Amino acid sequence: MPIRILGIESSCDETAAAVVADGRTILSNVISSQVDVHRKYGGVVPELASREHLRKIVPVVREALDRAGMGLHDVDAFAVTSGPGLVGSLLVGLTYGKVLAASLGKPLLAINHLEGHVRAVFLEAYRNGNEPRLPGVCLIVSGGHTVLYELGSEGRHGQGTAAANLVYRKIGQTRDDAAGEAYDKVARLLGLGYPGGPVIDVLAAKANEVGDGSRGNVRFAHAKMRGNRYDFSFSGIKTAVLYYLRSHPELAPEIARRREAIEAGKRSAADLLPLTTPATLELLASFQRTVVDELVGRTLDAADESAVRCVLVSGGVAANAELRVTFEREVERRGFEVFFPSRALSTDNAAMIAAAGYAKLVAGELANGTLNAEPVLQLA
Ligand code: KG4
Ligand code: ZN
Repeated sequence: MPIRILGIESSCDETAAAVVADGRTILSNVISSQVDVHRKYGGVVPELASREHLRKIVPVVREALDRAGMGLHDVDAFAVTSGPGLVGSLLVGLTYGKVLAASLGKPLLAINHLEGHVRAVFLEAYRNGNEPRLPGVCLIVSGGHTVLYELGSEGRHGQGTAAANLVYRKIGQTRDDAAGEAYDKVARLLGLGYPGGPVIDVLAAKANEVGDGSRGNVRFAHAKMRGNRYDFSFSGIKTAVLYYLRSHPELAPEIARRREAIEAGKRSAADLLPLTTPATLELLASFQRTVVDELVGRTLDAADESAVRCVLVSGGVAANAELRVTFEREVERRGFEVFFPSRALSTDNAAMIAAAGYAKLVAGELANGTLNAEPVLQLA
């Protein structure tokens, strides 16, 4: 009989629950996004986030069980995100999981959200029958995090990586904004709504079709890093976009038109494209090129230096098409292999939390009733 773990994720603005068998097979994966609640504020409002989690947590868990064809009594263990994240949000999922585990007498597993993102890469790899062979280098790139690790595994290899402990050594991180945060801030400056990543992903690609084909003719300087050369910085590019807009007041009317469209509910990339001039598409392509080059360049340099052949990329920004294509092209050139989750598993979800729970359960690392939310929890 497979071990079925119910995962619960509520660290930011998605209320999610999922059932995963033996840390490998997704039986259900339910995500309720709060994007519509936070959109008009241009970012996540913590108080509203916890209130929404409270409204959604029970129906989302019920739906995850229904879709897996299970009842609560069939769950072998409960895995909850304990951090990092917004404390009020974390507490909702964590407390609900704690109560379920205690009342059913089942194990409770505390999961680091970042380890969840790493396990998402493996979930996808199991599905494709091509698993990353560790050690490797792992980039987690989302709205809250941009971190680079050396990743290894230990113990229980007979049962595959799903049951093995992952071991991390942090080798770089952002010194200011996360990459996803830069996407969201630039989207806000340009009247492209929230979250910014998915829309900029599509519009930047259009620069090729309607622009002069140069893929972004605005040149942004790359951040110069003193000290650790695997650290990242994204606040400079955001400020550069701001200055560009100040010196190009002719772009102001189209920004206002897009804001109006978004207010009226027309917020998809297809809605916004006709309201966006080639000059702005070029600006977006330039911004994205700079961010992608920074992420891919530093990650692959780190892989080169540590002589590993395997690169893992996860987190919301890993859904970005240009990031994927650039990684694929560059790893081929250098003789590495790169692994991503599917786009759906790149952004926050609970399947990755349930998958991470399996290794903890096998290792006997159980949490108890004293488990609390840890908003600044680190992996290494
Ligand atoms: O992992 P995630 O769902 O939540 C956090 O843990 O932060 O990541 C959300 C972030 C947002 O900043 C969003 O703009 C960005 O990921 N994002 C993208 C794309 N899809 C989501 N950024 C670039 N391209 C995308 N396709
Ligand atoms: Zn995340």
